[in-house]
This record gives sequence, structure tokens and C-alpha cells, in this order.
Amino acid sequence: MDFCEEVLRPEEKAIMRLRTLYRQFGYTEHRLSRFEEYALYADNKAFLASNEIVTFTGAGGRLMALRPDVTLSIVKNIEDGSNLKKLYYNENVYRPDGREFKEQMQVGLECIGNIDLSLTGEVLMLAHRSLTTLGGEQKRVDVSHMGLVSGLLKSEEMTDEQRAQILRRIGDKNIHGLGVLCGEYGLSNGFCEKIIKLASLYGPYDEISGDLGLISVSDETDSALRELEQLFDYLMQYGVEKDINLDFSIVNDLSYYSGILFQGFIDGIPAKILSGGRYDKLLRKFGKQAGAIGFAVYLDMLERLSPVENIINIALPKGRLGEKAYAIFEAAGYGCPAIHDESRKLVFENPGKGVRYFWVKPSDVAIYVEHGAADIGVVGKDILLEYSPEVYELLDLGIGKCCICVAAEKGYSPGENDRTLRVATKFPNIAREYYGKQGREIDVIGLNGSIELAPLLGLSDVIVDLVETGKTLLENEMKPIETIGEISARLIANKVGYKFNYEAIGRLCSNIATQLE
Ligand code: PRP
Repeated sequence: MDFCEEVLRPEEKAIMRLRTLYRQFGYTEHRLSRFEEYALYADNKAFLASNEIVTFTGAGGRLMALRPDVTLSIVKNIEDGSNLKKLYYNENVYRPDGREFKEQMQVGLECIGNIDLSLTGEVLMLAHRSLTTLGGEQKRVDVSHMGLVSGLLKSEEMTDEQRAQILRRIGDKNIHGLGVLCGEYGLSNGFCEKIIKLASLYGPYDEISGDLGLISVSDETDSALRELEQLFDYLMQYGVEKDINLDFSIVNDLSYYSGILFQGFIDGIPAKILSGGRYDKLLRKFGKQAGAIGFAVYLDMLERLSPVENIINIALPKGRLGEKAYAIFEAAGYGCPAIHDESRKLVFENPGKGVRYFWVKPSDVAIYVEHGAADIGVVGKDILLEYSPEVYELLDLGIGKCCICVAAEKGYSPGENDRTLRVATKFPNIAREYYGKQGREIDVIGLNGSIELAPLLGLSDVIVDLVETGKTLLENEMKPIETIGEISARLIANKVGYKFNYEAIGRLCSNIATQLE
């Protein structure tokens, strides 16, 4: 009987095409067990996308895990010989997705051995061809180099925690936050200028290579710059360079990654569909001397492909903050007069200006943006700190200013008792992180509003909450006792929408920034 491709589901077709592609370039299939000992992941948590892993007790009482990642299993089992191994795999991984775990289908490839730039070019070309195989009108593979980021970070004295905080803000393209941190940590103006440049650069190699000279500060940065130049020569030979941009906000854990990192995107799919890089340091951790590069394609993301529109979707928080934010957009030239009409409509658009606004619940703005239902949005920094959504944080709008504080009843004294501190809050993650850094154990009592009531009724010792004028605390016989952080409204963007609408969103941001000056 003849085989007919039409009987296959879209992801099965994609798997067949990808396997065919990788075999054409000499990659052979690698099969793996679905289970691993949990210790493999416990020892390498920073390499994983999430700390949450499905575990169970195996034969002999060993703690086992459903595999959350394929690369670790390959590296653990691979022989450390001198010959180059070119492998591909098609396996499921088990990762958290919201509150549930999800089985996710991955196809990927790994090269382990002596990795030179021509092989790196081949892997990037295959990443690009993988996206072409999957469809979608526009695709992009964006490339970063951890040597450049790490060399620049080493050029200035700072603690590991400070370095991690700066790395996080580079990943969020949070230029404002980088400036604030450089000031707080007492870093030089020259370093601050360079790190901001690195985080904001985005575009094709030939357009931004002129700016890269500014980042040359050490042998490590210069060798990374030379590698990038040579790599783009290879990509030109493959004819794929027009879909490959540089983006140094693609960062990963410095203890595993040292070289090229890259991610793949398809316009209409709101998150990365491919992720890869050079991970020699992982092999060193397993006592192996070889180099390694590879990538994984997340096939489940194909379900999320939706039609692409030529308009910027903007999520605004309902209420006073949203009205203030809209006034900034209007003054910057992105008005939509119908929004002023008395109505209960939630969506307003002005096609002439290329914008569509939606009013959403303030705490939901980041969800709309992270999932790509909105390209950009306005959200309080408290929500970003609490939920850490995968979004770019492009501007501090300087409105909705307040503080997040620990507060207690007027007579409260912190050293009163040594039992676990009971903290009532709408911000459990912020509270846990704050007290975790002090090494203090807490019981979090999660509430949704009127938090000030908790200590008054004996439900908690303190609260962690927003304080704007301080009136609510005052009128309830309470006082702030510690400030955790300053809060204001931020302009955030979906990471993929930003890449495919770079010019329009960049223009909007600079028009708004001019308004704010
Ligand atoms: C916020 C916050 C405080 C109050 C602080 O509450 O949770 O209760 O504002 O403002 P102030 O310092 O100016 O008095 P919100 O109004 O959002 O209502 P909630 O209590 O239902 O959370």
C-alpha cells in the first residue's frame, strides 16, 4: 500500500520532515529512556528550564524522574572519544505549564566532539531550515554570544548575585533597570554605557557590527567578536544570514554556556519554538573534554500559530493607571478618540495609527502580553516581580508610583518571638524571595485584598503590600517597617512580537520616551 502523508497530523509531518533533514546532513537517531535518576537533575538545576520535576520512587527505592530535558541524558551517556558524534532525537519531555505538568514533544540535534565554526554554521543553518520546514510566513533565528556577555560582566568588580541581577535585566531588555543597578552597585559609567548598548542592540550582523567594537574590553570579548564575524561568513555561504539577527538579550546560565546561543521564532507563534547553543561547560561537569552544540524544536508550539496582523495590540490596565497610561500614548501620537466615549466596550482601534487598545484587569496585562494576545502592555512592576513573566520590560513610564513594603501594627516589634513569621500578602513570591535572602522562614497567608486586616484580626504578624500615600496603614493603626522595592508602571512587550514588529514598536517606544522626558 502506498504511504500517503495526508494521514499524518501536523506535528507528525513536522517530525518526519525534520528527521529527513537531519539524516541528509549525516545525523543519526539517538533513542533514550523516558526515566532518569532524579539526582541527574538535582545536580544540574541551573541547566533546566524549570526546577519543577515529576518524580517517583523506582525499583530499590531510588528516586526517579520523568525526563524534563534530553541533552543531560545524552551528555551523561555519551562516550568521550575523539570522533565527532552527530545525533538527532525525537523524544517527549515533561515540564510544568502553568499549574500542571505537560508532555511536550521535542525534535532536536546535538553535535559532540571537536566543534569548529564551520560546524556551528551548519547547526545554525539546520536551525533555520527546521523553521522553514515547519511553515509560517516569517521566521528568524536570533544569535547571541555568552563570551561577549560574560567578558563584559567580568570587566567590572561585582558579586555573583549582582552579576546574576544584571544578566536578568539584559534578558528583559530592561535598559532603565540596568541604569538603576549600575548606580546602586557603584559601577563605572563606561561599563554602564556598554552593558546598556549590549542589551539594546538588535538587528542583522552587517547593520550592527559597527556598534560591537564598543564592547571590546578583554581577550574573551574580542575572541567572541571574531567568532561572530567568522560565523556570519559561514551563514552567508549558506544564504541564510537575512533571517538571522544578533540579539544579546538571549542569555543563559554562565556556568553551563560560554559560546554561541540562539533561539528560533516563527511570526504568529508567541514564544520561541527553537532554542540552542554551545554547552561545552556542561560536558566538563561530567568530566568530558569534548565540545558540544545543539538545539531543540518545541513542536507543541505549532498549535499556537495564529494569523499575523499589521497592527500593534496594546493591553491597558482598567482604572486610573490605565487612563494615565493611555494619555501618554495619546500625547505620543497614538490616540484613538473612540476610547473617550462613554461605553462598556473593551476594545478600541485606530487603524490609521496602527494601534488597537484593550482594557484588561491590571493583574492580567502581563498574561495577555506573555501569551501574545497583546504585543505590548502597561503593568505595575509589582506584577512583574511577583510573576516573572517572559516579556521584555522596555520603559519605566514613571506613573503609578508606590512602594512594596513590610508593614505591621503600630506596637509590633520584629524580635518579639522566634516562631515562624506569618506574612499576609497578595505577593507570595515577592515575600518568599525577600525573606529567603535574609535566611528567614515564613508562613505565607495568601489573600486577595484588604490585606491590612490580617494583623488586626491576628491572622498574621506582618503584611507585604503596596503603600502609596500610606493612608490605609495610618487609618488602621499600622506602620511600614521595611521597604522591599520601588514600584511604577512599565511598558512591556511580547518577545516574539517585538522581534517581528521591531521597527514599529521601537518607534512607539522612542516617541513615548520623548514624551516622558
Ligand atoms: C492597595 C494596597 C493598599 C492600598 C495602599 O489596595 O493593597 O491596601 O492600596 O494605598 P495607600 O497607601 O494610598 O493607602 P487596593 O486599593 O488595590 O485594594 P485592595 O486592598 O483590595 O488590594
